[in-house]
Amino acid sequence: MVLVTGAAHGIGRACAGRLAAEGARVVVADLDGGEANEVALRLPGDGHRAVALDVTKPESVDEAFQTVGGEGLDVLVNVAGGDTQHGSFEDTGDEVWHQMIQLNLIGVVRCCRAAIPHLRRRSRAAIVNVGSINAHTSLGSEPYSAAKAGVVSLTTNLALSLGPGHIRVNGVAPGTIRTRVWDDQEGGADRLQPLYPLGRVGEPDDIAAAVAFLASDDAAWITGHTLPVDGGFLTNH
Ligand SMILES: NC(=O)c1ccc[n+]([C@@H]2O[C@H](COP(=O)([O-])OP(=O)(O)OC[C@H]3O[C@@H](n4cnc5c(N)ncnc54)[C@H](O)[C@@H]3O)[C@@H](O)[C@H]2O)c1
Repeated sequence: MVLVTGAAHGIGRACAGRLAAEGARVVVADLDGGEANEVALRLPGDGHRAVALDVTKPESVDEAFQTVGGEGLDVLVNVAGGDTQHGSFEDTGDEVWHQMIQLNLIGVVRCCRAAIPHLRRRSRAAIVNVGSINAHTSLGSEPYSAAKAGVVSLTTNLALSLGPGHIRVNGVAPGTIRTRVWDDQEGGADRLQPLYPLGRVGEPDDIAAAVAFLASDDAAWITGHTLPVDGGFLTNH
């Protein structure tokens, strides 16, 4: 069984769809429980379910993993996250920093911690963390970028400590991906297309393909890495 956080929309929904199409039973875990139910119902194959989950709330994470963990968790995909509107670095107070670190870093920490006892029971298991190119270059948005950089460090550290237990831990760092987060920005995601050597911004399926690979046995000897999936953006940034 695979649990995908943030799976009701965007990249997480694409990951759930891809993994289900490859034969996995998927738990669609999201703050938006109503839409998570809809997504789970529409996935190809059988045995999928939805669970309401707020990664910023310890009790919500514990409850969600207790509910599904007994069913045999093989893979955790951490997608839930996102940026928020705020001013310049000097004008951004602790509240925004706490909010971004809670959602994008501690949320991942919590889900890993809750999943690991279940993953340890499998002969092999995997965690895939969705970060961002923001962790690898300077694009502003310091609280979000620093939180995502923390996920890169968490990924390498957990890969080391969990390797002997046959749990692989990898990450994917997306460039600009066409999801609803760009809808209210003038020109949408396509405004950034000139920054991409491959001539387009990314689609959620581009990320889902990389996540599915890192979660699969094809990546059986890969751990501790964060793979940029960015249309070449980081080649010149
Ligand atoms: N879209 C991009 O250009 C882009 C680029 C780089 C990285 N990312 C990362 O990819 C991930 C998904 O982004 P997206 O563009 O698909 O966004 P999205 O808003 O479409 O999807 C995010 C999902 O996470 C859920 N979510 C939000 N807060 C949550 C919480 N506290 N607990 C549980 N679920 C929660 C939302 O309900 C939603 O279903 C995020 O981590 C984001 O930082 C996105």
